[in-house]
Amino acid sequence: MAKRIVVVASGRGSNFQAVIEALQRGSIPAVCVALVTDNPKAYAIERAQAAVIPVVVVDYALFASRELYEQALLEALRKARPDLVVLAGYMRILGSAIVREYARKMINIHPALLPSFTGLHAQRQALLHGVKVTGCTVHFVDERLDGGPIILQRCVRVMDEDDEDILANRILIQEHIALPEAVRLFCEDRLSIEGRKVKTC
Ligand code: GRF
Repeated sequence: MAKRIVVVASGRGSNFQAVIEALQRGSIPAVCVALVTDNPKAYAIERAQAAVIPVVVVDYALFASRELYEQALLEALRKARPDLVVLAGYMRILGSAIVREYARKMINIHPALLPSFTGLHAQRQALLHGVKVTGCTVHFVDERLDGGPIILQRCVRVMDEDDEDILANRILIQEHIALPEAVRLFCEDRLSIEGRKVKTC
């Protein structure tokens, strides 16, 4: 049966778009049942509307505390009954209640070859460190920051003349391949987690 996917995004949503297009092509046996966003101005909302995907805004600014926000976010996710939650540019750290509830059912895309350059501005970190190769990682989400079991990675070269934007765009091209691919593998029940390792069959 087709899996139910919920995408959580805070901004531009180009990775969300890549997943939408893979769904529209029929490459992923799933249906995107909701976009959940913490940001009422996220461009991802327009992308969802264009694809006729329901949007749920849980506006971070409207909550008195982080705990109340997290509760509302968890409620929004529960209502959508996802088989898979895809963090596609969700710019906050998730609380442990949500992470635990969706253990092994939540994935994230990060613009570096983990475990290098966790957290924000991964592309800037890569440039400052002087690495010659970086890339992107899709991983299961657990309570470690960008630290869950790795599903797949794609690399890009770093050129001497790169600035942050040029490098970010080169990585983004690979993200748009990696994320739909990982979603597809999950939805085809082809991933198994053994300790830190994710095996693909
Ligand atoms: C991507 O680089 C993603 O890896 C990171 O945030 C960015 C989101 O871009 N987590 P977009 O909103 O998918 O265009």
